[in-house]
This record gives sequence, structure tokens and C-alpha cells, in this order.
Amino acid sequence: MARILIAGCGDIGTTLGLSLHAAGHRVWGMKRHPDDLPSGLQPLAADLADPATLTALPPALDYLVYSAAAAGFSEASYQAAYVTGIHNLLSALRQAGQRPKRVLLTSSTSVYAQHRGEWVDEDSPAVAEGFPGRCIRAGEQLLWDSAWPAVVVRFGGIYGPGRTRLIDSVRDGIATHSAGPPVFTNRIHRDDCARVLEHLLFLPNPAPLYLAVDDDPAPLTEVLDWLAVQLGVPEPPTAADPPLKPGSGNRPNLALRQRASKRCRNARLRASGFRFRYPSYRDGYGALLRAAAARPSDQNVASAKS
Ligand SMILES: NC(=O)c1ccc[n+]([C@@H]2O[C@H](COP(=O)([O-])OP(=O)(O)OC[C@H]3O[C@@H](n4cnc5c(N)ncnc54)[C@H](OP(=O)(O)O)[C@@H]3O)[C@@H](O)[C@H]2O)c1
Repeated sequence: MARILIAGCGDIGTTLGLSLHAAGHRVWGMKRHPDDLPSGLQPLAADLADPATLTALPPALDYLVYSAAAAGFSEASYQAAYVTGIHNLLSALRQAGQRPKRVLLTSSTSVYAQHRGEWVDEDSPAVAEGFPGRCIRAGEQLLWDSAWPAVVVRFGGIYGPGRTRLIDSVRDGIATHSAGPPVFTNRIHRDDCARVLEHLLFLPNPAPLYLAVDDDPAPLTEVLDWLAVQLGVPEPPTAADPPLKPGSGNRPNLALRQRASKRCRNARLRASGFRFRYPSYRDGYGALLRAAAARPSDQNVASAKS
């Protein structure tokens, strides 16, 4: 039985924590408001941004999973979640004389600036242009520079129960196709995220970095059209190009269509022995749609996250 702290224990952390608990481990879920954690997870109220709240960590931790998310889309929020929070927690563990066997970070493929449909993997340059990727890269480095064996997991877009924005946008007729070149998107089902983390927690001799996306980096248009067919609604229309920015001459404004178009390779993760439950968006979204169909009162599959 291992003693495991999940810091920033939200959707992914809770899914992971419940699985670890079921496997017989002792799991603490840390967040600012831990009252909603399910039984099986030991609640730990703390604010990663406030070192004074990190002085009573459970002793003799074997593993740490850091999965806090930014509170909003601002540089201050990303800095707090990925830089200050990681720094504070690692310092608190060090000061308490803890010696975890392994520390994991839920990172993101947003650390890559590539946007022309290139294939990227763990050896590709990760030189993010925006503040989210830059803050996350800084947090990755803090982990790798810590005294303990560190594994960073860069997840693609997470979808799953309660994270059905794409489905909802197609059903509601809000989704549109881009008129430009294909925009490649990468994703992973929430349950596979938790399974990847559990796999990498206990994998002998893991690499310091893994890309965690499914086998099917697909053009967004393909995914939208597939969803439309499944939902029995019209395929999304093609949107006009966004307006030219003043001073951009005749060059099209590519900001929107180039957004995050890349293809993430998961070969290292697969070579480590991991097998996806949902290897393609067809498997994962198909399961969500079947689950929703089995609940006749569901008008919408759901809500807030993509
Ligand atoms: N969404 C995506 O598609 C995507 C893609 C790649 C990577 N990721 C990353 O995956 C990780 C897990 O995501 P998730 O979906 O599980 O996020 P989530 O459900 O929003 O959970 C994050 C948790 O962090 C806690 N938290 C935030 N600030 C905190 C603080 N200062 N101190 C203590 N706890 C704090 C929050 O609880 P309290 O509010 O109670 O503190 C929340 O429960 C995140 O790092 C996210 O950035 C997400």
C-alpha cells in the first residue's frame, strides 16, 4: 500500500484517486475546498498559493501527483497554478524532510508552439508563445529540477463525462468549420487520463516526459462531421475567414485557423505498455453519446468543459 498525495484534486485527480483507493492505496486529495471529495479520498484543505497552509502535509508520502488547474484564463492564474503552487508544494515537502519515490505533473500539449499540422513528440521543441504554455513549461522545469524522480505528462484536450462542449456545440448548431487548411486536434478521454497517471506512477524506470493523447489526432472538421452524423443534425457550416487585422495588408488573418494545429505522437506512452480504453474520439464520444441516450431525460449531454 502506497501513500499518495493528489494536489489539486479535481476531475482527473478524483478519478485517479478513486482508482488508487480501490487498489488498496491511501490517498489524500488536496484542494482549497475539499468538501466535495468522495469517500475513499482523505480530504486535505490547503491553498497551493499560500505556503502557510502547506505545513501539515501527511507524512511519509510515497508519491505526489500535481494536478491543479488555473482558476481562469489569465497569466496570474497560470503563474499561481503552475509556478507558485508547484514551487510552494515542493518546498513544503523538502522542509518536511519528505522523500517521495516519484512526483508526477499533469502538463499540457499547449507547451508546443507548432501550429501547421506538424507531428510533435517528446523530442520536439516546446517553446510556447502564449502565457499558458510558458507558465506550464516553467512548472515542468521546477519538477524536473526537484530532488525527486519526476514524470511530466503532457495531455491533449480532455473530454469525458461533464466535458462535452464539442458535442453540445454541434447539437446546438453553434459549431463551424474553418475555411482554411485542416486544424488538427488532439484529445484524450478523462478516464484514460487517470489510467495514464496510474500506469506511470508505478511503471519501472519511466521516462521524464510523456505525451498523453489518443491514437487519433484528427482534423477538427472530421470530428465535427462525425458528431453531426451521430447526433442526426446537419453538418456544421463553413465560417467565413475572420476579418483582416488593420495593417495586415492582403495576408489572411491566420490566428484562428492556425490555433493549435499539430499532431501529437503517443508512441512513447504506447511503448511503455499503456493501452487506451478509448483509442479514438469515435470510441470516447460514442460511449458518451450512448450513455446520454440511456438517460432519456437528458436534453443535453452536459455542460462546462470541453
Ligand atoms: N482541460 C484540458 O483539456 C486539459 C488539457 C491538458 C492538461 N490539463 C491539466 O490537467 C490537470 C487536471 O485537470 P482537471 O480537469 O482535473 O482540473 P479541475 O477539475 O479544474 O481540478 C483542478 C483542481 O485544482 C484545485 N485547485 C486549484 N487551485 C488550487 C490551489 N491554489 N490550491 C489547491 N487546489 C487548487 C481545484 O479545487 P479548489 O478550487 O477546491 O481548490 C480543482 O479541484 C490540470 O493541471 C489541467 O491544467 C487539462
